[in-house]
Amino acid sequence: MRSTITAVAKYLPKRILTNADLEKMVDTSDEWIVSRTGISERRIVSDGEATSDMCTRVTEQLLKKRGISAEELDVIIVGTVTPDMPLPSTAALIQDRIGAKNAWGFDLSAACSGFLFAIESGSKLVESGKYQKIVVIGADTMSSIINYEDRETCVLFGDGAGGVLLEPSTNDRGIVDSLLYTDGAGANFLKMPAGGSQHPASHDTVNKRLHYVTQEGREVFKSAVRGMADATSELMNRNEIKAENIRLFVPHQANKRIIDSCAERLGLAPEQVLINIKHCANTTAGTIPIALAEAAETGRISAGDYVVLAAFGAGYTWGSILIKWDNCT
Ligand code: ACO
Repeated sequence: MRSTITAVAKYLPKRILTNADLEKMVDTSDEWIVSRTGISERRIVSDGEATSDMCTRVTEQLLKKRGISAEELDVIIVGTVTPDMPLPSTAALIQDRIGAKNAWGFDLSAACSGFLFAIESGSKLVESGKYQKIVVIGADTMSSIINYEDRETCVLFGDGAGGVLLEPSTNDRGIVDSLLYTDGAGANFLKMPAGGSQHPASHDTVNKRLHYVTQEGREVFKSAVRGMADATSELMNRNEIKAENIRLFVPHQANKRIIDSCAERLGLAPEQVLINIKHCANTTAGTIPIALAEAAETGRISAGDYVVLAAFGAGYTWGSILIKWDNCT
């Protein structure tokens, strides 16, 4: 049995942080940011707004679009590295807010690959035959872990959430195949050093500014291109899918140059690639479901189309998922 996406939704916070705003905060320029990343602006949560608030808005939309009640949900899975708090999980907070009294759920940490890892987990639960309605969300409030005095990271990220409803497929459409990887040798190139059990929050960790994302940008860049392109290529080959058979490639939105390099390696034309980084920036686990929701809303994908997702993130984690798009609201 295959699982399939029957609804997709996104939520972006109202507040906009433009490149012009960042020019006033760090030594950068709109010209540098646009030419090196493709980003013009990003959304940032309002004061008091957190990851669970964005996820709740996404889940409410999914239920409304599909015309089902919260009690019908079996599982809620949230890919995030910025939960409201270390415990309880974001999934538990959503479950309570929407009244999904028959659902269990959990958060999953795979950084920018969070949505891919979550959809794989949800799919396998559906395929087991035991669960019929699973909400899968990718969401991050990156503004809560970004140092707005570090120009090398603060220009890259934004906040946002997106998600899908997974159900058993009744035809040949749905999640066709997936290839996912983890290589912890990448841990030192991209991380948030403190706030966990190794360096619990203390005055010292705060003074040393260890609660922010740090990265070696060039190293991550190269690994991201290789990881996403190779995983997607392998997935296409083993499913005998050629570049021209793909209606839409929906990659993680980290840097327009990363996406362009991947697309070139895969032999994809610009109209086959979804790029929304200009107005969303990198929302970590949020990028792919937000992009998928935009694609569905604007009619760029319809039932029967082959859609390929690809992501790369901290860990390292990466992978690709092949979907035969279904009737989806
Ligand atoms: N504004 C102006 N100048 C800047 C800025 C900025 N915001 N940031 C860096 N620079 C400077 C650097 O200091 C450097 O100056 P120097 O030559 O005097 O030393 C110069 O610009 C070039 O720096 P590079 O690091 O070589 O620039 P690069 O073209 O590699 O772009 C970037 C940097 C955007 C970080 C790129 O490497 C990248 O996108 N890497 C991937 C990182 C990423 O996406 N991380 C997110 C999480 S992982 C993921 O999502 C895949």
